[in-house]
Amino acid sequence: MKTLIIYGSQYGSTKRYAERLAEMTGIEAIDYRNAKNISEYERIIYLGALYAGGVTGLKKTVSKISPNQELVIITVGLADPTDSDNIKSIRNSIKTQIPSEFYDESKIFHLRGAIDYTQLGLKHKVMMSLLHSKVSKMPESELNAEAKAMLETYGKQVDFVDFTALEQITSKL
Ligand SMILES: Cc1cc2nc3c(=O)[nH]c(=O)nc-3n(C[C@H](O)[C@H](O)[C@H](O)COP(=O)(O)O)c2cc1C
Repeated sequence: MKTLIIYGSQYGSTKRYAERLAEMTGIEAIDYRNAKNISEYERIIYLGALYAGGVTGLKKTVSKISPNQELVIITVGLADPTDSDNIKSIRNSIKTQIPSEFYDESKIFHLRGAIDYTQLGLKHKVMMSLLHSKVSKMPESELNAEAKAMLETYGKQVDFVDFTALEQITSKL
């Protein structure tokens, strides 16, 4: 099947996954900002970093494809990608970002990324600081996976990128 890997990454962890997937499969990987004529591909594997629930570049990429092209979505975020509430919340958010004809037919997977606070741009630093002051006042029983991940990693440099998780995905494609 003629396939293209497209990724949306701001700080590089999603790009690392996309490039490793490209190496493993022999499929070309490109940045979503360079995705022009993608209608010739039968399948698009989209890897996108999560920012406040949004999947970087997904909406823009889906606007360039048609429902007869297969779409695989792989999200990369800091919150535990095996936590069922987190998966539900990511998927509900994806539903609001792309038309239902794509959502209903897509295979969706979730991976864990990385963050380095010394590298964050000002806008992201401010967003994280506001979120941190809100979340740090919440009782532990009310914390979801996203809130827990942010508290555990706040201000740090952490890397949860795990290429072995890609093997599980390729076996299901
Ligand atoms: C402002 C901001 C918002 C974020 N929002 C989420 C989120 O909603 N869910 C999540 O799991 N991770 C979230 N993250 C963590 C990123 O998804 C994670 O760092 C990811 O690996 C970044 O990918 P990239 O390096 O390809 O840009 C957020 C990070 C920042 C800085």
